Amino acid sequence: MSGYRAEVGLRVDGQEHALAVDTRSTVLDLLRETLGNTSPKKGCDHGQCGACTVLIDGKRVLSCLTLAVTVGGKDIVTAQGLAADGLHPVQQAFLDNDALQCGYCTPGQICSAVGALDEFADGRPSYAGDVAAEPELTRAEIAERMSGNLCRCGAYTAIISAVEQAARA
Ligand code: FES
Ligand code: FES
Repeated sequence: MSGYRAEVGLRVDGQEHALAVDTRSTVLDLLRETLGNTSPKKGCDHGQCGACTVLIDGKRVLSCLTLAVTVGGKDIVTAQGLAADGLHPVQQAFLDNDALQCGYCTPGQICSAVGALDEFADGRPSYAGDVAAEPELTRAEIAERMSGNLCRCGAYTAIISAVEQAARA
């Protein structure tokens, strides 16, 4: 490590990288500007819109709020990587349900949906229902779990339908 740079090894969409990263750089900027992976989008750059969501070690994370130096040794998957072996069931469900208009929020929505469905499968509660009860994947439950991802086109109704379909896949 020297100055503002540090060596970091990480995996992105199945590919290993060893990089000298700027210690002030976010994972979002590392992905987009250094690695040329423009799948995660920069919406607000302030943790408010969810467009930059990626999966880090299987958990959904806002890449604009995560410093690149903190992800050494971790496995990062973007929406692009989810399609490496053909469309992921969540991606197929978004297509089947027309769950997008401009598509800018979509990669983040898709990563978030994958993470949310895993959290649901793990039995983690949300604020949508009785936190002491077994969660049920209602539309209200999906809306609550996806509430960190904004869609300026307002495709929410179809997004919820897509997540419902993916949950059954
Ligand atoms: S760009 Fe990260 S939350 Fe908006
Ligand atoms: S589809 Fe346009 S912002 Fe969501």
